[in-house]
Amino acid sequence: MVNSRSELTLSLLLFSALCLEAFIIELEVFSPAQRMNWSEARLYCQRNHVDLVAGNIVDISGLNGSLLNLRQVWMGLRRVPRNDSAWRWIDPKGGEGVSGGDFSQSVLWAQGEPRYADCGSFDPVNQKFYSKACSTELPFLCYDDNLVVVNENKTWEDALKHCRKMESPCEDEPSPCIYKHDLLSLEVLVEYNYVRDRIYKATTDEVWTSLRFLGGEWRWSNGQQLEDQTMLPDCPSQWKHCGTLSKHDTNHWITRNCLERRNFICYRYKTVSNQTDYLGV
Ligand SMILES: *[C@@H]1O[C@H](CO)[C@@H](O)[C@H](O)[C@H]1NC(C)=O
Ligand SMILES: *[C@@H]1O[C@H](CO)[C@@H](O)[C@H](O)[C@H]1NC(C)=O
Ligand SMILES: *[C@@H]1O[C@H](CO)[C@@H](O)[C@H](O)[C@H]1NC(C)=O
Ligand SMILES: *[C@@H]1O[C@H](CO)[C@@H](O)[C@H](O)[C@H]1NC(C)=O
Ligand SMILES: *[C@@H]1O[C@H](CO)[C@@H](O)[C@H](O)[C@H]1NC(C)=O
Repeated sequence: MVNSRSELTLSLLLFSALCLEAFIIELEVFSPAQRMNWSEARLYCQRNHVDLVAGNIVDISGLNGSLLNLRQVWMGLRRVPRNDSAWRWIDPKGGEGVSGGDFSQSVLWAQGEPRYADCGSFDPVNQKFYSKACSTELPFLCYDDNLVVVNENKTWEDALKHCRKMESPCEDEPSPCIYKHDLLSLEVLVEYNYVRDRIYKATTDEVWTSLRFLGGEWRWSNGQQLEDQTMLPDCPSQWKHCGTLSKHDTNHWITRNCLERRNFICYRYKTVSNQTDYLGV
C-alpha cells in the first residue's frame, strides 16, 4: 500500500520531485532528511514510498548533483549473495532480494575503486556507483509512483466509482490543483511489466483495469481505444466485458464478468480545476 500523501509531507523533507516518465505512470524521487544503513533505508522507502531507487526503474541520469546537493546516497543495488562478482538491482516485486541483469560490468562504476563491500551507493555529482559497507549510514533516495492498489473486492463499476471518488489537494503547487484518480488505463504497453510487479500485494490474483467492451469496441475508461484490438476478442462472450491484469500471467489482458468482485488499481492525475474532465464510461 502507498502511504497517505499527508504523512509524506509531514515526515519527509521533499528535496525534489522529478517527473521521469511522460506516460500515465509518473515516478517521483524523494530524498528523506535522515541517514540510515542500507537495510533501514530500504525499509523506510518501502513503508513511505515504493522502494529504494533502482537504476532499472528510475532514469538515474536525471538524478544529477545540482538537483540533489548530495555526494553519496544509497541506491537499491546489492552484491548477489554467494556470488561476489555479480551486482543486481533490488526486486521491488518481492520486497526483498535482487532481480534483473548483472550490473557489475557497467561503465557507471567508479574506476579503480575496489568493490569490497556489499551495498551500492551513488554519487549524483559524478554519476558513479561505489560499493560501501551496508552498515554505513548514508542519505538515500526512494521513489514513488502515482498508482494505488486498492485491496477491496468490488465489481468493475464500483471499482471505477471508488477510484473516481478519491481526491486530494496537490502539495507544493502554486496554482489551484487537485489530484483525481481513475481506474488504471494502461495504453502504453511498455508500462505493463512495471504495473504487473506493482500489484504483487493485491489479495486477488487479478485486479480490475479500466478496460471495458462498449459499443463493439474495447476502450479504456478515459476514452482511449486499445492500442491493439487484436489482443482481445472482438466479440467477447456476454459476460466477459471487463478487463483485468494478472499478477502471475504474461498475457496482457484477461476478460472477465464485470460483476465479479476483486481488487483494483487506480492511477492519480492532476487537474487544475475541481471538474471531472474525463467523460468515459
Ligand atoms: C541537472 O538537471 C537539471 C534539470 O533536469 C538540468 O536542467 C541540468 O542541466 C542538469 N545538470 C547536469 C549537470 O546534468
Ligand atoms: C557470478 O556472476 C558472474 C557475473 O554475472 C557470472 O559470470 C558467473 O557465472 C556467476 N557465478 C556463479 C557461480 O553463479
Ligand atoms: C542497520 O540498523 C539497524 C537499526 O539500527 C540494525 O538493527 C541493523 O543491524 C543495521 N544493519 C547493518 C547491516 O548494519
Ligand atoms: C478479497 O478476495 C480475496 C480472494 O477471495 C480474499 O482473500 C480477500 O480476503 C478479500 N478481501 C477483502 C477485503 O474482503
Ligand atoms: C470538489 O467538488 C465537490 C463537489 O462540488 C466537493 O464535494 C469536493 O469536496 C471538491 N473537492 C475539492 C478537493 O475541493
